[in-house]
Amino acid sequence: MYLTKEEEKILDGEFGEGIQKAMELIVALGEINEAERLVSIGSAQVSGVSYKTIGDAGIEFLKDWSKCKVRVLTTLNPAGIDLENWKKFRISNSFVEKQKKIINYFREMGILISCTCTPYLIGNLPRFGEHIAWAESSAVVFANSVLGARSNRESGISALACAIVGKTPLYGMHLKENREAELLVKVSADLREQADYSALGYYIARHFNQIPRFTNITPTLDELKALSASLGIGAINMFQIEGVTPEISGDGLEKIEIGDREIEEVYEELSSCEDYDIICVGCPHCSLEELRRLKRIKTEKKVWVYTARQNKWFFENAIFDTCMVVSPLEDMGIEGIATNSAKAAFYCRNLSNLDVKFAPIRELL
Ligand code: F3S
Repeated sequence: MYLTKEEEKILDGEFGEGIQKAMELIVALGEINEAERLVSIGSAQVSGVSYKTIGDAGIEFLKDWSKCKVRVLTTLNPAGIDLENWKKFRISNSFVEKQKKIINYFREMGILISCTCTPYLIGNLPRFGEHIAWAESSAVVFANSVLGARSNRESGISALACAIVGKTPLYGMHLKENREAELLVKVSADLREQADYSALGYYIARHFNQIPRFTNITPTLDELKALSASLGIGAINMFQIEGVTPEISGDGLEKIEIGDREIEEVYEELSSCEDYDIICVGCPHCSLEELRRLKRIKTEKKVWVYTARQNKWFFENAIFDTCMVVSPLEDMGIEGIATNSAKAAFYCRNLSNLDVKFAPIRELL
């Protein structure tokens, strides 16, 4: 892989050991993927923030890297706790302590402690064609598809390395030829709300791994967010929608049709119970518009709403900095949840071993 003079100096350790390690990682990644060179990035989004997902090994890794500073705007995925209000929940002191340690390491590196999976709603909004290095599948799919930015699906570690170097290897989704649609999806299902879009994405992610181009749908921003998140459960990093997304390319596509039966199938597949302890909304984190809609609904039910801390002024009772998947719900006495997100339903069942009901919000509330 071609390296500039400055990149070679970084690799030789002339700028210090920390950035050298980050560069070694990026160069290895580039060589495995046959990248021609590196490309500058506008921002990074780092995942692997919750103690629940990275554990003690993750803390040791971050301790080692915490002396490095990031060179570009870098935002952070949700942590395992609400960093201010964790006392309201049954979380062990040791979990809280370790989580705070992780956050401090990220802070030392110059990373914005945003703790949200919707960085594009809180100020990290890439431009069309901009190269970025984001980890967090839902945000990667949204950025590639809706914004027209260019990101591979980085791991937490590679996103961090790219943030430290300010560059990423030029391969995969950074190249125009890999962004063409391969599958034409005619949607004949009657999609009425966010959960239906979530179910649509999940169905495609479970059965296909080509870039889909949808026809016959005109989703809102929140529905695009839901579709991005569930498509990200599989290997898909981008979608196109005729008349909606900025990039429409690729022809001679394989054709399929998705009707009400396929959507219904997803609701059934992802639901394992009728009784649950709480309703969880906000996977991905709720936008202001969703919060506005939720505020209008009067319900006696126990609803936990997850969103970015920036929205606290508008919805004080929400839970910030964390989410239903990366917080230790299973250790907090919760056995079952209901959600309008296919992604949350999938991971709460498979990662946290919870009982789950997946249904549209109208039905749940
Ligand atoms: Fe975000 Fe957590 Fe869902 S990180 S996309 S709310 S699983």
